[in-house]
Amino acid sequence: MKLEGLVGFVTGGASGLGAETVKQLVAAGVKVTFGDLNSENGEALVKELGEDKAKFLELDVTDEKAVEAAIKTCVDTFGGLHIAVNCAGIAAVGQTITSKSMMSFSTMRLVTEINVFGTIYVAAHAAKAMSKNKPVNDRGERGVIINVASVAAYEGQRGQVSYSASKGAIVGITTPMARDLGRFGIRVVAIAPGTIMSPMLAAQTDKMKNLLLKDTPLGRFGEADEFAHMVRSCVENSYLNGVTLRMDGGTVLSYS
Ligand SMILES: NC(=O)c1ccc[n+]([C@@H]2O[C@H](COP(=O)([O-])OP(=O)(O)OC[C@H]3O[C@@H](n4cnc5c(N)ncnc54)[C@H](O)[C@@H]3O)[C@@H](O)[C@H]2O)c1
Repeated sequence: MKLEGLVGFVTGGASGLGAETVKQLVAAGVKVTFGDLNSENGEALVKELGEDKAKFLELDVTDEKAVEAAIKTCVDTFGGLHIAVNCAGIAAVGQTITSKSMMSFSTMRLVTEINVFGTIYVAAHAAKAMSKNKPVNDRGERGVIINVASVAAYEGQRGQVSYSASKGAIVGITTPMARDLGRFGIRVVAIAPGTIMSPMLAAQTDKMKNLLLKDTPLGRFGEADEFAHMVRSCVENSYLNGVTLRMDGGTVLSYS
């Protein structure tokens, strides 16, 4: 799909990869509604981009009814929905057991609620809205849903049981969701980023950041603009579907 003139919905759009995605989509001529818990950052980004091009909604993606309402607001405000990008997510650390402790199952539940249920609520309600679009081109395209996994889906580090489980789920849902939605002209793609500089990565200890850099053949972390570029490519390439694409500079996470 050509980006110009489309309408997008981005979760986690007030920070990091989501915020850069909002900016690049708007720069490409897409009208974007974005939801996040962080209303201060969200409102500031709308001021920067212009209210005619971007709309912020305070949104908790674990609230399915709120997700449904947010997507309705997006459609009512900008006249449709063609691109949904699921950037809202949290990381959590906790080893299965140590000599003194056990991982927190309530944390695992929260990670799953946000990273997995949040993604599926948005994808399902976005798909419903997209299914009502007229095809935007002669390939019958009505929309694309972009989910965000992680290389931790494949080689999670020590302490990443909860996070890796949630990102493995994103890899897992991508193919069946694409199979469900293909007949509506809706594609589903997941991006599995490596280590991309963002507030989430910045919050890691220096020791962890140095370990991560050693796993990266390019010797640097990725940048949010490289992720957002990948999002644009996923929208533009009409034959990308049902696949999780690693965008990691060749990173393979090591043992710890
Ligand atoms: N940065 C990386 O290296 C990296 C690598 C792999 C995957 N990812 C994934 O990319 C996505 C974006 O990460 P980021 O690095 O930009 O992190 P970030 O912390 O900068 O941004 C995440 C955003 O999600 C929002 N959010 C959290 N819980 C929410 C909820 N319940 N409802 C709505 N919004 C909520 C936060 O407020 C925040 O603005 C996440 O899913 C993350 O797991 C990031």
